[in-house]
Parts: sequence; structure tokens; C-alpha cells
Amino acid sequence: MNRHNNNSSFTTTAGDTTMQSALIKKTLGMATMLAASFLAQHSFAQSANCSYSISNEWNTGATGAITITNTSTTAINGWNIGWQYTTNRLSSSWNATVSGSNPYAATNLAWNGTIQPGQSVSFGFQVDKRGGSAERPTVTGSICGGSVSSTPASSSAPASSARSSSSPIALSSSASSRSVASSSIASSPASGQQCNWYGTLYPLCVTTQSGWGYENNKSCISRTTCTSQPAPYGVVGGGSSVASSIALSSSSAPSSVAPSSSSIGSSIGSSVASSIAPSSSSIRSSSSVASSAASLSLKALADFPIGVAVRAGSEANSVLGSSQQQSVLFQHFDQLTAENIMKMSYMHPSETTFSFANADALVDFARQNGLSVHAHALIWHEDYQVPNFMKSYSGDFPAMLKTHVQTIAAHFSGKVASWDVVNEAIAENSDGNAVNGFRNSVFYQKMGVNFIDQAFIWANEADPVADLYYNDFNTETNDAKTTRMLNLVDGLKARGVPIDGVGFQMHVLPDWPSIANIEASFRAVAQRGLKVKITELDVRVNNKYNSSAPVYTSLTTAAAAAQAERYRQIVAAYLRAVPAAQRGGITVWGTWDAQSWFASDPDWPLLFDNNFQPKPALQGFANGLTGQ
Ligand code: G3I
Repeated sequence: MNRHNNNSSFTTTAGDTTMQSALIKKTLGMATMLAASFLAQHSFAQSANCSYSISNEWNTGATGAITITNTSTTAINGWNIGWQYTTNRLSSSWNATVSGSNPYAATNLAWNGTIQPGQSVSFGFQVDKRGGSAERPTVTGSICGGSVSSTPASSSAPASSARSSSSPIALSSSASSRSVASSSIASSPASGQQCNWYGTLYPLCVTTQSGWGYENNKSCISRTTCTSQPAPYGVVGGGSSVASSIALSSSSAPSSVAPSSSSIGSSIGSSVASSIAPSSSSIRSSSSVASSAASLSLKALADFPIGVAVRAGSEANSVLGSSQQQSVLFQHFDQLTAENIMKMSYMHPSETTFSFANADALVDFARQNGLSVHAHALIWHEDYQVPNFMKSYSGDFPAMLKTHVQTIAAHFSGKVASWDVVNEAIAENSDGNAVNGFRNSVFYQKMGVNFIDQAFIWANEADPVADLYYNDFNTETNDAKTTRMLNLVDGLKARGVPIDGVGFQMHVLPDWPSIANIEASFRAVAQRGLKVKITELDVRVNNKYNSSAPVYTSLTTAAAAAQAERYRQIVAAYLRAVPAAQRGGITVWGTWDAQSWFASDPDWPLLFDNNFQPKPALQGFANGLTGQ
């Protein structure tokens, strides 16, 4: 698969291998030392050009890609490269397994380890610029060669002597874009003190006396809540202690907050707030973290994205205008999905009109607040989401659909971490109109299953670095629909279609599907080397399809407790079934019960109640993450 980024880049080429070895050994940490050692034993082993490019840059951060192009005449099977920043720090990455915390090392995933002669593989990342400009460091590794042929004078990593020899597991104080954004917030008390909330700095509230608050258009943490956090967190600053208290180098960080290199490795891909949070094992032993809803932070407990669906644009309850939503969002989540406004009809209302303003505002909001974006959805059959012009299109349908996919994917390239490329193409088990197991949509009628292949190919061409998902519901059932989904992804992979993962929507009932079937369904996808993402999780308390099930007309204590346990079990099943490198994350389909698409049933399927108060379900989710 050629996931190549054509943006401006700087390329490494082979040079003096002794120099390379010395340079690398002096400058890189343990992870990249492995690559250096390999290089020393394989002089002139360079077989690829390795380039680092910036695709987008804004005040506090940037996105980019590292591209490895096979310049030899034989296939590359597996790759391992490294790089190091002077000022910037990585906040997330995708399409590679990244370890370290400056220097960084990256290795291939199962599907992108082979690079045929002349072909390229790219993986993407986001950096926090930490007050500097976007750097373009040298990419090193045995397949790249180690010398630098093109090093920009102003923005590249410095020569070896200027690079620190920090351990690859050293924790960087402000490796989070959230940290920088937060530390620039002007609403802290005059003392200059702030709250170090598991590695992210927030302003201390001026008027809010307990819990989280929202003042001067920013989330803040009350002094009482902040001071109750375990060391080294809590109130910092008011002098030089700010820097020292958040500079969690591996040598200064207490062992309870120093993640193992493996936990750091798997943390890349979620926000850095989570990567510098305590490892799950240390959280497990810290009952003070999990026992209080006020101090709980889901994202701090996970080394993969924890997302939530939000409304924006002209929808009621836009997250952009709701301080209550934002307060919950910033405390618990590091990824968002537009519940509606990035769907087909919103983005492409007429053949010649693309409408990006509302989605742009939401994506900008996410980036400004250190959140990544999982985008939903490029193609969805649902009648009211298919633009009217597409339903009766009489021209070249594939050409029209290609324009649709590529215009949207290109617009958001570098700004979203992943896409639901095709949503709900597989027929329900009971669908009498199904064709070959597929939903008889306008897309299937016009192109057969090829619409799915082409959608991924087109999306990949327009955005070579975003993770590309097939997304569906009732596929976590381990039944006939799951089998049809697995057959689809097997076919896509066999045909070389660039799919990265499968999204399980997971709008589940209190008693269906069974945890065993959910786990088996996750496992089946993971065993195919694909990422697994829970994309739209909600857990109803009523099962209206089962006449013998209890009927709740309000969220009773018993119903809430059962729901919490269901959340715990689902999250635990995800962790058991999906290897760390393949965890695309877990997204909840809404913040608070009143927002849920099941609100009028009535049901109460989310983590916060109608007053934005945390429900037992929140603790259940957290307990699933921590293994309690
Ligand atoms: O914003 C308009 C509002 O202006 C108008 O007055 C009102 C009147 O009906 O409608 C509002 O829009 C509604 C919107 O939800 C709320 O913002 C739409 O009619 C309604 O169709 C839309 O429903 C959404 C549904 O998808 C259809 O797009 C739900 O919120 C959303 O939760 C649901 O999400 C889907 C996923 O995309 C795919 N998987 C299943 C999931 C649940 O159905």
C-alpha cells in the first residue's frame, strides 16, 4: 500500500556508517540504539529514503508524516526508524507503533511492514510545538542510512552534541498540546499557581469552590479538588516550582508515575495527557484516583483514545456553546466525533456544493483543546443522510462518488486521526432486501461491493495517513452478521484495499449481546491484524425487545448499577481481546443522557445524567480500564 504524503519534506540518505553509528549512539535512546546497532553490522544497508514532512501547522502544534520509500530492488520486510526533537514533542501518532518520549522509535504494523521496490509507506503524527516552530528532524534507521543530507537551518533537530541523551522513557513535562494550551490560559489566580492534573496544567478556579468549573471561557479546577490529588499532582507554581513539578523526567518522577517503556509505547496514539498519566498498573494501586468521581479522568486511565460524540453547527446542544459539556469533555475525553455534522448531507448538500464551515469550526475546537478527531462518515446508506442529488444521480456515479470522498477526505487531511469510510453496508440478519448479504443501498445498486473497495482506495489517496475504518452495528454479536463483516474485511485485505480497522458501533442492550460474543467479535477482527475501535458505545437499561425484561421508567439505583457493570465488562472485554497496538479507542455516543438518541424511549444509556452528574456507569467504565 502506498500511503504517501507529498508535502514538503526533508530526506535522509546514506553516508559514512561509522559517523552514523557514533551519531546515533550519542543521540538516540535505547529504542533507536537497536536500529543503530543493526546499521553498524550492515554497512551500506540503506535501502530507503526516509523523509519527515509537515502537513499542517497551527499556533501550538502541527501534523505530519514520516514516509519510507523503498529505493532498492528488493522488498523491505519490516522497518524500524527513529527521530528526535529539540523542542517539539509527539502528542499522537497513527499507522505505526511508536515508542519512547524523545527520542522516538517507530516500527511497522502488521499491514504496512512490507514495502515493495519503488513503493512508500507513511505514518502520521501530531506534535506539540511547545513554543517553537514545527521541527523537521532527521529520520534515522538501518533502512534509511543515518546521515543528514538536508537539514533546515532554523527548524530541524540540532547536531548530535545539542541533543540530550535522555532515556527513551523519560517523561517530558509539556509533551501535551493540552499542557501548552492550558498553561497559556490567563485565568489562573494572580499567584501564578495552576493545577497539575495528571500531567496537564489547568487554571485554578477563582470562584468555583469544588470540583471542576468553567471560568473565563476555560475549564478550571477548584483548589480543593486539585489539592486532593496524589503527589506529584496538585497545585503547582507561584514560582519556579511550576517547571520543576511538571518536569517529570524518568529520574525525578516517582516510580508510581513512571510508565514502563511498553506502556509509553502503547500510549502514543492517544493524547499525551494519557501518555504521561500513570500506567494502568499504578492507577490500579491508587484507590484515590478511581474512588472519587471528581478526580476521575477516563482518558488518564487509558493508553488509547477515549472519545465522545458531540453536536455542533446549527444543532441544538452544540458543544461549542456549552461550558458544562466542555468541562466533562476536557476532563474525560481526548477524542471527539461529530455525531451528525460530518455526515454526507451536511458536508455535500448538492453536487457542486461542499459545506465545511461547521465541521471546520468543530475540528479547530478539537485541535485547540488537544483533542483528536475520529470523523464520521464518508458513505452511509441511511436515507436522510444521503444527499438528494445522489439518490437520483444519472451521471457517472463512481466519478461523482469519488469526488465526494476525495474532496472531503482531502479537506480534513492532517486534521483528523481517522475516518469511518463506509458505514453500515452489511445487511441485518433480518433484511429481506439484502443482496449478497449487503444492504441494498443506492451505492450497492450502482457499484456492487466495489463501492466499498473504491471508497477506501479514494480515501487513502486523499488522506494517506488517517486510519480508515469500516463501521457497523450489530457486528459485535458473533453471529451471521459478524461473519459477513469478517468476510468483507477478508475480501478487502485480499484485494489489497487500504483498510486499517473495524469500528464496532456497540449500541447494546443491557443483556445482549453476551460479553462472550462481544469479546469473540473483537478478537476475530484483531486476529486479522486490523485495529478495533468501539465507535458509538451506549448501554441502554431497558430491553424493549424482551417482554420478560424489567421495564425502567426512571434510572433506578438497581438499573444504574447493572448498567455500570455492563460498561465495566465491555471495556474489560475490549482490553482482553485487542492487543495494545491495535486499540483504536473507545468512543461513547454522547456526553449526557439527555443528548442520547435513545432519550425519548425513554432510556439513560450514557455516562452522565441529565444534569451532567457522573453516573455509576462512569465508574464502571473506569473500573473496566483499570481491571477492577
Ligand atoms: O438539528 C436538527 C434540528 O434543527 C431539527 O429541528 C430537528 C427536528 O427533527 O432535527 C435536528 O436534527 C436531528 C439530529 O439528529 C439532532 O441533531 C435529525 O433530525 C436526526 O435525524 C438526527 O439523528 C441522528 C441520526 O444518527 C441520524 O443522522 C442522531 O442524532 C445520531 O445519534 C444518529 O447516529 C447514528 C450514527 O450516525 C450511525 N450509527 C447509528 C447512530 C444512531 O442512529
